[in-house]
Amino acid sequence: MGTKRSYGIAVIAGDGIGLEVVPAALSVLHEAGRQGGFTLECKDFSWGCDYHAENGYMMPENALELLEPYNAIFLGAVGSPQIAEHVPVWGLVLPIRKGFDQYVNLRPMRLLPGIVSPLGGRGVKDVDMVCVRENSEGEYSGIGKRRLIGTPGEVAEQTAIFTRRGVERIVRYAFELASRRPRKMLASATKSNALQHSMVMWDEIVDAIAEDYPSVWATSYHIDALAARMVSHPQTLDVIVASNLFGDILTDLGAAISGSLGMGASGNINPERRYPSMFEAIHGSAPDIAGQGIANPIGATWAGAMLLQHIGEAEAARRVMRAIERVLLAGEARTPDLGGDATTEQMTAAIAAAL
Ligand code: NAD
Ligand code: IPM
Ligand code: MN
Repeated sequence: MGTKRSYGIAVIAGDGIGLEVVPAALSVLHEAGRQGGFTLECKDFSWGCDYHAENGYMMPENALELLEPYNAIFLGAVGSPQIAEHVPVWGLVLPIRKGFDQYVNLRPMRLLPGIVSPLGGRGVKDVDMVCVRENSEGEYSGIGKRRLIGTPGEVAEQTAIFTRRGVERIVRYAFELASRRPRKMLASATKSNALQHSMVMWDEIVDAIAEDYPSVWATSYHIDALAARMVSHPQTLDVIVASNLFGDILTDLGAAISGSLGMGASGNINPERRYPSMFEAIHGSAPDIAGQGIANPIGATWAGAMLLQHIGEAEAARRVMRAIERVLLAGEARTPDLGGDATTEQMTAAIAAAL
């Protein structure tokens, strides 16, 4: 008997274009597996806003137990105009990220060949960054409350929690990554001028850990100036380490300057591998285009390549990325967000064929 490699993948396509880009990306990954001699045993979990409408919750109470045996989780997106937006987020996305201690959210922001950046005159050498986003605490602590709801005296309080352990582990991960990249640069996103508790601690931790990485050129930028720098001087940025909310915002910007929000990929990673990691495009369920079959499948497919890399199929991951790049360079099959008129299916078929 052959000993074909096999991996269990938990698939949560979710809502809106999640239901379109996930099958698209998976078709490319399955083809990569066929060529590479491994199989992805995918199990669909039909959780999301429709599931919520039927059951009153986004996923069952034992969802994490159900997901835990898998080698990785592949997520589309959740969210629907029919439901308050914090419900899917706090009912599915964040419980998985936090419950599986996926404290690193790795988000490459790279202009792929053949794409014209909206920045103008910028090429692939100018936009090649990766965001290491803190993914377990910070502004997404969930702590707070509303008082005197609906009255003129209403107060809403939303508390950001930064722990030394939480900041140290993400900053160290970012320095490690920077030390392994050719340019060895690290930009820390701060706001220690206005946030005199959390971000002052953040800066102190960055400075302290920098001592352990003399080969890395580390700089701190206030988040506002860093956002501007990503637009005006993207070539001066390599690894960016940021808090949960700062990283969220910077990475939509990073995807936009890489051609489209539909290009952004992401891995929610538990580096210790104690729990499964989860891979997803950075975009949401895009209700404005859902059901039209025109969503860009690249963010999800790139996230799929990150999944392959994570489970140990690095060569297949490289092949998927090369296939994406080949299709973009050929300039034919492109979805409308990239200026073309191809459907999700046509673009996906082109990528699979280019493998
Ligand atoms: P969004 O990313 O869904 O859409 C923003 C804009 O980008 C829209 O105009 C959309 O059409 C476009 N876009 C996004 N992905 C695209 C793609 N692949 N191809 C072409 N165009 C694309 O962000 P939003 O509108 O702020 O959020 C919509 C819903 O998604 C909300 O409920 C939000 O909470 C949710 N959301 C979920 C996740 C997740 O599940 N991980 C992530 C982000 C947003
Ligand atoms: C993302 C999304 C999520 C985030 C939402 C859905 C909670 O915007 O993955 O970027 O803010 O992390
Ligand atoms: Mn986001």
